[in-house]
Parts: sequence; structure tokens; C-alpha cells
Amino acid sequence: MENIKRIALLTSGGDSCGMNATIRAITRYAIYNNLEVIGFYEGYKGLLNNDYKMLDLSSVGGIVDRGGTILYSARSEEFKTRKGLQKAVDNLKKNEIDGLIVIGGDGTFKGAHDLHNMGVKVVGIPATIDNDIPGTDYSIGFDTALNVIIDIVSKIRDTASSHDRLFVVEVMGKQSGIIAVNAGVACAVDYIIIPEIEVDLAQIANNIKNHREGKRHILILVAEGAAKASDVASSIKLLAGHEVRVSVLGHIQRGGSPSAMDRILAAEFGRKAVDLLIEGKSDYMTVIKGMKVDGCPIDYMFDNKKEVNKDLYKLAHILSL
Ligand code: F6P
Repeated sequence: MENIKRIALLTSGGDSCGMNATIRAITRYAIYNNLEVIGFYEGYKGLLNNDYKMLDLSSVGGIVDRGGTILYSARSEEFKTRKGLQKAVDNLKKNEIDGLIVIGGDGTFKGAHDLHNMGVKVVGIPATIDNDIPGTDYSIGFDTALNVIIDIVSKIRDTASSHDRLFVVEVMGKQSGIIAVNAGVACAVDYIIIPEIEVDLAQIANNIKNHREGKRHILILVAEGAAKASDVASSIKLLAGHEVRVSVLGHIQRGGSPSAMDRILAAEFGRKAVDLLIEGKSDYMTVIKGMKVDGCPIDYMFDNKKEVNKDLYKLAHILSL
């Protein structure tokens, strides 16, 4: 057990729904354990500028259902430099911070690892709609983003059916098709295009030309990292001669009120992160594996890549026949 008195937290990188619920959980659970809590604004940028506020029970009230992050978020280039890193360490010392909790994705965790190497006690909480952090089944914000996509794609399906149209819908995921595959199954789309698996557009166009009698909508979900929806649409139109419409969902996927799953995960990850610091752990992240919340060395992330579930990808296509 560490004798810690004051911890700090920050949200960094692309925001995700449930970050506020996480801030609330960390703050309240830390106060319950007689710790003081401060929140740095705008991620590592706020840490460099020493821009923070003390968090008490009421400053995190009424935020569990709000998207975005009350601490704001940013990506800081300065923090990646040796000088920037030193400045961050100095500010943590100046404010007598015994442990830091960072909430974000892979870039945020790289920063956490660097801080650890400079002697800072730091724990990470995975929060990214991409859900691409190895070691954890889920990251905060993924489930809400899927639900946002389900909601919009079912609206698109309504109009697609009316007009016997084909829609190409672009979802986020620059490096990974994890969002696209999971949303594709949940939305019962016909084709999923992801960076990890090569597809033959001519084959898809051929299938479209011969699609089942009576089928009045065709949905193609494309991950932004695989191709632009507009390019896929042009090719399909040319090859299949079918009318095509395009919808790019964009940042809508990062907003809204967090789902029940993201709020519960936020509560559990918040508690676990504080417990890890109290236990004296550093360079750890909170994870959930098979519905069990645990801690895992951040190092795991550097040696592993989270793979897209290819079996689920295959199933999506079998079920859409
Ligand atoms: O990392 C999460 C993510 O939402 C990606 O899926 C997306 O490519 C990226 O962030 C976009 O980020 P921004 O618009 O904030 O630069």
C-alpha cells in the first residue's frame, strides 16, 4: 500500500462518451478513500501549462449522462518532446501529485508510459470509440458509438428500402475495422469494408447485380481507414450500375449520452484505477476481460496488436445473404 494523499487526472486524445462518467467515478471513489483530486484541463497540454482545478464531490455532479469531457481534451506535440515531458513532471511535483490517472487511447498511454519512465506513478483508463487497445475487451465510448451508428443506419435503411437504393455508410476507424465489424453485425449490413481485409469491389458489384429477389436495400459499411465512402460508391455505381447514395457519419459517433454499458464500465474502471494507485502500481491500465475488471501492464499494448474479429466479419456476411 502506498501512502498517497493527492492524485490528478486528465482526459486526452479523441474524446469518447463516458469520459465524464469516468471523471466522476475517479473523483468520488478517491475522495471516499480520503484522497484529494485535481483535474488537468485539455490533457497533457494542461499538464504543461499547469492548468487545473480541484475536483470535489459537487464539481462532478450531474455529468454522468453527458458526452464530451468537462476537463476538455487535446493532442499536445510539445508533450512528446524531452523538454515537454520534463515540464509535465515538474508540474506534477510542484502540485504534490502522488499519482496520475490518464483517460484516453493509445497515444495517451504512450505518454503515460513515458511519464512512468521519468518516475511518475501513472495508471491509464482505455477510452476510445475505436476500441483498439490490446489487453481489454472494451474501452469506454465504444458501446455508445455503436449505438449511435445503429440508430442512424436504421434510419438510412428506412429511406433505402423506400427507394430501392444502395447506401455506402462511412464509419470511424483510421487504423482499425473494429467499429465497422461490430456495427456491421448489429446493423445487419450487407458488406463491410475494413483496412484489415482486402475486398474485391468487382465481386461485390456482381453480387449486387444478382441480389435476392425482393431485397429493396443494400447497405455497405466502410471503415474510414479502408477507403473513402465516395470512392467506394463511384466504383460500385460504375461496376453494378446501381443507384448509390453516400453517408459519412463522422464525429456524430463521438457524441451523445453514454450507454448503460459505458457508464457502468466508467464506474468500474474509475474505481480500479484509484485502487491500482493506492496499491502502489504504476505503468498499468485498467482492463475488462470476459466481464472481469482487472489491471494490466501498459507494456502489453506495445507488444500486441488488437485484431479485428474475423469470425464476426464472416458471420456478418453469412447473415446478410
Ligand atoms: O481515435 C478515435 C477517432 O475517433 C478515430 O476513429 C478517428 O479517425 C479520429 O479519432 C478522428 O479524430 P479527430 O477528428 O479528433 O482528429
